[in-house]
Amino acid sequence: MVTDMPNPSVPAIEVMNLTVSFGPRPALLDVSTTIDQGLLVGVIGPNGAGKSTLIKAILGFVKPDFGSVKILGSPADKAKGSVAYVPQRGAVDWDYPITVEEVAMMGRYGHVPWWRDPGPQDRAHVNQALEMVRMNEFRDRQIGQLSGGQQQRVFMARALAQGADVLLLDEPFSGVDAATERAILDVLNRAKDGGRTLVVVHHDLATAAEYFDRLLLIKQRLYAYGPPQAVLNPALLSEVYEGALRIFSALPVEKGPR
Ligand SMILES: Nc1ncnc2c1ncn2[C@@H]1O[C@H](COP(=O)(O)OP(=O)(O)OP(=O)(O)O)[C@@H](O)[C@H]1O
Ligand SMILES: [Mg+2]
Repeated sequence: MVTDMPNPSVPAIEVMNLTVSFGPRPALLDVSTTIDQGLLVGVIGPNGAGKSTLIKAILGFVKPDFGSVKILGSPADKAKGSVAYVPQRGAVDWDYPITVEEVAMMGRYGHVPWWRDPGPQDRAHVNQALEMVRMNEFRDRQIGQLSGGQQQRVFMARALAQGADVLLLDEPFSGVDAATERAILDVLNRAKDGGRTLVVVHHDLATAAEYFDRLLLIKQRLYAYGPPQAVLNPALLSEVYEGALRIFSALPVEKGPR
């Protein structure tokens, strides 16, 4: 599906000394990390930690005060065709009159010149993507008439249809039931098996170790990036979540001092 596979020795994403602020207090402060290709990476951290900001800065949607990002060895603004994005669900206008198939086809716009309609190859990518998220049978449905979990899958289809090597997903599991969560995880893993790199904002620490190859723990600064066992360290988590970890009942850190 992807024609030119990137050189596997080049990192998928390099973030160098990234500082982003919207007001006086930076949302991200001096964040540096390197994510290798072919990994499924979870981004964790409390509300307001800068997870979405990190994703948007990697995409070039927000301008850093300082620092830079490379995607597959190229500056982010030169790598747009290599990256696909699934936004946090609240960021989408669901009343917009557009069908499932049309949303998925939007993933192909970077490939379709403005003077022609999508061709058979574009349709093949869209079909494959809708098949992958099991939304083929809903292809003529307006997106406003889908359940939340179905809408999430359509936006994944759009990202998959793009054929990008790097996929950034902001909380794809939020507000979906257990079966849809499994289905989405399955799609993420299949994309990974196809050689793609996926960076996924995730809220549930109880499933983080099971779902991801690497975790990136952030709260304004980067606290840790590595294998889940190393990142889900009770002392580190208690520092980042400021002792609020009792709510994550499935975690062994329950026995902490608080
Ligand atoms: N466009 C914006 N204008 C002003 N402040 C912003 C903007 N976007 C984010 N912020 C602020 O930057 C900080 C980080 O926000 P961000 O959305 O990245 O957090 P998050 O980790 O994704 O949180 P959540 O888990 O709630 O989605 C917050 O303090 C937020 O209020
Ligand atoms: Mg967010």
